[in-house]
Order: sequence, then C-alpha cells, then structure tokens
Amino acid sequence: MTTFHRGRRLRRTPPLRALTRETAPLLAEDLIMPWFVAESRDADFCKPIPSMPGQFQLGLGQLEKQVARAVDAGLTAVLLFGIPAVKDERASGAYAENGIVQQAVRLLKRRWPALLVITDVCLCEYMSHGHCGLLAPDGEALNDPTLPLLAKTALSHAQAGADVVAPSDMMDGRVAAIRRCLDDHNFAHLPVLSYAVKYASAYYGPFRDAAESAPASGDRKSYQMDPGNAREALREARADLDEGADALIVKPAGPYGDIIRAVREQVDVPLCAYQVSGEYSMIRAAGINGWIDEQAVMLESLQGIKRAGADMIVTYFAESLLRQGLVR
Ligand code: PBG
Ligand code: ZN
Repeated sequence: MTTFHRGRRLRRTPPLRALTRETAPLLAEDLIMPWFVAESRDADFCKPIPSMPGQFQLGLGQLEKQVARAVDAGLTAVLLFGIPAVKDERASGAYAENGIVQQAVRLLKRRWPALLVITDVCLCEYMSHGHCGLLAPDGEALNDPTLPLLAKTALSHAQAGADVVAPSDMMDGRVAAIRRCLDDHNFAHLPVLSYAVKYASAYYGPFRDAAESAPASGDRKSYQMDPGNAREALREARADLDEGADALIVKPAGPYGDIIRAVREQVDVPLCAYQVSGEYSMIRAAGINGWIDEQAVMLESLQGIKRAGADMIVTYFAESLLRQGLVR
C-alpha cells in the first residue's frame, strides 16, 4: 500500500488533464490587439518595427486591411496608438479633431460598428520630448497642468466614436479629470479602462521604438511605479476606482503575476493585463532563433497571465493566435 500522493493519476490522458484544468482556455473575446497607426499621406504606409518582428506602423488604408483580416479571424477588440506626423511641446496631435487616432477610430467604427475600439490616452507619442505630460523648464513632468490635456484627448476620442478610453499616462487625478469631462459632454456612458498599475518598466523598450516615443531626456520613474512595489499597486488601484475607473489594467503582465493576483483579490471590477512589447519581443526573438517552441511559449505566457487573475489581456499575439486558430 502506498502512502504518498499520486498526482500523476489525473495527468494520465489528455481528457483527464482537460477535465481537471483549473484555468479556462483563452477565448477570442478575452483578447485585445494593439495597433500603431501612423499619420501619413500614403494610406498604404507599412513600416516594420525592427524590435517587434511581425508588428508594423500602419497608414490608415493598411490598418483597415490588417484589422479586416483580424476581425475575420475573430478579433473583437483593438487598442489604438497614434504616431503623428508632427510632435510638439503641447502634444497638439493627441487632441486634434482630425488627429490620426481620431481618424482611425472613425474609419474602424464606420466599417465595424460592433468592433470594440479602445484608445490609449497619453501624450508621449505626440510630445517632441517624449514624456507623458507637460514639462517644466527643469525637465519635471507637470501633473496638474497636464490633466486638462488628457481630458481633452479622451473627449476627442469619444467624439470620434471610441468605445472605451484607456489613460496610460500615470498622472495623479487623471481618471477624475477624464470622467468629469466625459460626463459634462454627454459621454456618461463611456467606460474608462485605467492603466492604474503601470510600472516604470524596461519591457516597454520596443514600444518606444514602435511609437517613436522614447523620452529625449530623463526617464518616466517620477510618474510610473517602482518595480519593487506591490502594496502601492493596491493604492493606485483603489485611487483610480475612487475617481471613477470602470476597469483596471496591470502592466507589464508576465513578470507581474503577483501584482495581477493581488489586485484581483482586492478589487471587484474587470481586470486587464497588458503583455507589453518587451514580453512579445523576447518570445518572438527566441522563437525566430529556434531556441523555444514559440507557439507553445506564447500560449503558456498568456495562460500564466490568465491564471494570475486577468479577465482580459492586451497582447501583440492576439491577431496571430486567432489567425492560426489557436484561440477561438
Ligand atoms: C504610453 C504607453 C506605453 C505603453 C503603452 N502606453 C509606453 C510607455 O509608457 O513608455 C507600453 C506598451 C508596450 O510596451 O507594449 N504611455
Ligand atoms: Zn505616455
């Protein structure tokens, strides 16, 4: 007679493993695909992002083509980032009525009314200096003077037809400023998906190539969170909920599974995790080199994020997962 635990009994066959698996498989509707839309006179503009193989800066025409393929494969939600033709010190392109994201939103919503179009609300892609807020002469990112610009940006996305706005700037009080502005302009129904828990992460490196938004000087550590902090994540989450956020994002995702879990246990709103550019690029690079089974690692990385407690995931793999039939 054996007295030890026989964990292998439930692992013997695929149906037994499936029956006893704790984390449900990923669904198409859990995935949000980010796209980079570039302001270009050439609608067919399509520039590969070297540090993110398989991802591109797209002109409006190319965006439409790529989204069409993804929607046909089952994609239900997109997250838009804009790359303006001109950057300045007030991020004018971020809240221009005919800015690149505003144009993209109108285009996508006209063709696919049911597609969920989420916009990233931030100023860094539109700032000549690459910071997420207005800069003081000494280089400090100013908090309160930045809030009206963020609110204007979110409102302009709403007016273009965005379904959800997602502020990613990490200025204090921005959810309240955006919520108030939306409510004052007949957008009380529009949800705010707040990047509440956003770390100052080196994993954003490839994104900054993609969006041409690396800070020209300094870093983002005075507004994004210190990677050593876990309790602070709960304060940030609560603060954003108090200000009126409808759902929260934790970012990055993979290396912050403990944070996803901790936030999941403390809040009762939908929780999104963002598998960021660096997480994507590392898996792709190792895959391209033949060092890992890329498809398996991609699925495992997302399963880990879901197991940690995320309800939905922003991932650059979304389109390829759907097109390969790995998620439906
Ligand atoms: C803009 C923004 C960033 C990301 C999403 N929104 C960059 C940053 O804060 O530096 C990162 C996304 C990624 O790395 O995939 N504030
Ligand atoms: Zn930013």
